[in-house]
Amino acid sequence: MFEIIERKMIVPNLHLLTVHAPDVVEQIQPGQFVIIHAGEGAERIPLSAADWNSEDGTLTIIFMEVGTSTGMLAALKPGDQIPTVVGPLGKPTEIENFGTVICIGGCYGMGSIYPIVKALKEKGNTVITIMEGRSKNLLYWEEKLSGYSDKIIKLTRDGSYGYKGHIKKGEDIIRELGVKPDRVIANGCTTLSYMTTQEYKHFNVPIIVALNTIMIDGTGMCGVCRCTVEGKMKFACVDGPEFDGRYVDWEELAKRRKQYIGEEAFLVHHSGCGGY
Ligand code: FES
Repeated sequence: MFEIIERKMIVPNLHLLTVHAPDVVEQIQPGQFVIIHAGEGAERIPLSAADWNSEDGTLTIIFMEVGTSTGMLAALKPGDQIPTVVGPLGKPTEIENFGTVICIGGCYGMGSIYPIVKALKEKGNTVITIMEGRSKNLLYWEEKLSGYSDKIIKLTRDGSYGYKGHIKKGEDIIRELGVKPDRVIANGCTTLSYMTTQEYKHFNVPIIVALNTIMIDGTGMCGVCRCTVEGKMKFACVDGPEFDGRYVDWEELAKRRKQYIGEEAFLVHHSGCGGY
């Protein structure tokens, strides 16, 4: 069993969960995820690591409350126990000294981009971080992200904080600043990943997106997370979750997600994501 250390809503509908999972923390690297099971009646959910502490063996994730399983996670209190935290899963983010890297986080991705931002900065990159949300009250971890970013750009679609706009506005600012990125990395919903790919592809650099496909086992056995990249079949759980968005078959991905359209509509309505 895994003990819950902390659980709180950090912005409307997004929760921070810290769990004691020392074996996972011992091996985890930026970009990896875990599968969490809150208990009887819940489904196994893949959730990206947002932070961890090697000294006390705690792992922090940010998740959106969007249905029964995440609702059960959102009801957890410190001292509660959950039966499953499996991981680390997926391939870690490639961390090198690339030069200038733009890191974009939206929704739960403002959390999961944090270890990537930190590792890239520690490798000597110039890191420009873009936080994106519908409104000011949906942005979080600005201070943590600023600590490892050379520049931080805040975007809100209603203009309540930072610049008014969405992914395109972020790209406009990057161009106006005369920044020539060597790599772009985006964490967030499928729409954020897709739009980032479209808006930044003219730079002709890798656009690394973490695909949030549906997953069951997370180990390459069930095939649910199948996607096509560069014309080849891939499993997001073992071959990803990160891929170069320029080579992802987005049409196929959208079709596969359509079977969950009801859940997606619920998510959009309740999350403040609004990207669909
Ligand atoms: Fe089953 Fe990826 S989640 S193959």
